[in-house]
Amino acid sequence: MRKKSKYNVAVVGVGAVGIEMLRVLKQRNFPVGDLKVLARSERDITVDGQVYHVNQISAEAFEGIDIALFAGTEGEKGAAVTYAPEAVKRGAVVIDNGADFRMDADVPLVVPEVNPKDVKKCKSRGIIANPNCSTIQMVVALAPIHKLLKIKRVIVSTFQAASGAGSKAVDELYSQTRSALEGQPAKPEALPQRIAFNVFPHIGSFGEYDFTSEEWKMVKETRKIMHDEKISISATTVRVPVKTGHSESIYVETRRPVDIDAVKKVLSQSSGIKVVDDPKTCVYPLPVDVEGKDEVFVGRIRKDPFNEKGLWLWVVADNLRKGAATNAVQIAELLAKRPSL
Ligand SMILES: NC(=O)c1ccc[n+]([C@@H]2O[C@H](COP(=O)([O-])OP(=O)(O)OC[C@H]3O[C@@H](n4cnc5c(N)ncnc54)[C@H](OP(=O)(O)O)[C@@H]3O)[C@@H](O)[C@H]2O)c1
Repeated sequence: MRKKSKYNVAVVGVGAVGIEMLRVLKQRNFPVGDLKVLARSERDITVDGQVYHVNQISAEAFEGIDIALFAGTEGEKGAAVTYAPEAVKRGAVVIDNGADFRMDADVPLVVPEVNPKDVKKCKSRGIIANPNCSTIQMVVALAPIHKLLKIKRVIVSTFQAASGAGSKAVDELYSQTRSALEGQPAKPEALPQRIAFNVFPHIGSFGEYDFTSEEWKMVKETRKIMHDEKISISATTVRVPVKTGHSESIYVETRRPVDIDAVKKVLSQSSGIKVVDDPKTCVYPLPVDVEGKDEVFVGRIRKDPFNEKGLWLWVVADNLRKGAATNAVQIAELLAKRPSL
């Protein structure tokens, strides 16, 4: 990609993430030249009062595009497997939100606060992957602690919002809540269990050692982003009846003893993090407070009283913003700064 004053951008998918992508491009004043919005069918959509024309996706639609931001669904029927190579063939760099390419050796997996230099590894394939939403917010919080104390082990439980499973899951949260309040049965369709007035430890499909695919993503992606295959990570991922904003309870075991004041200091000085931590006045991060925000919010920072090398964190972020659209646009900003790519 050549350095330009403006870049022709394609946004693929106008679901929960794609819509947020359109907002973030505008709010961060990304230097967009021509903007193409692509999905499965042609129509007009309105986002924050602005009408966008959506074109039906085709290989030719990527002609002249510099940066293609993919937020379509995953797998053979999704957009990225078929159209990411077509976009690259026509000279675009692809930034993909799905899981199709994340673990490929020649595709960098990038969180700009953690491994910005990995962007340049996209040269051979032309694709950069955005990590999973629950991984992104966790690595933003872990990276400064890893630098300070070297992390040995992480045990994390997530509390993930309905929008993490796309716009149909949000519709299901609303419709089931209404049905449940009216005493009607709530039938799961977009999600594997009833979401209204319920929580369930099932995100993705069950696999190796009875962990889910979402749980394995948190293990494998974290190691790839942090360039450390030795960190032991165990996750339990749970869906909760929240619209947007994933929360995570994270236990960290370090190689050096924990100085909790030093941890609080390094977190509060790290880019992309806001420390919200005054439990005596009931102040800690909440999903309802982070919706629409770009930072990762960290609170309940405390030492394990029974292990001098252990600490706990409560980490909350907007899964559609930092967990997806904002991270992708930040990657596009890195590309725009590096004319050699
Ligand atoms: N939701 C999150 O918090 C989150 C976070 C991180 C990553 N992600 C990933 O981001 C991607 C998008 O997620 P989402 O939550 O926005 O999903 P979503 O709400 O279900 O929206 C999916 C969008 O993709 C489009 N699409 C699907 N297949 C397509 C194809 N073959 N060609 C063109 N467009 C296609 C759909 O088009 P139509 O509208 O025309 O049907 C729809 O607009 C997924 O890969 C997801 O895993 C999501």
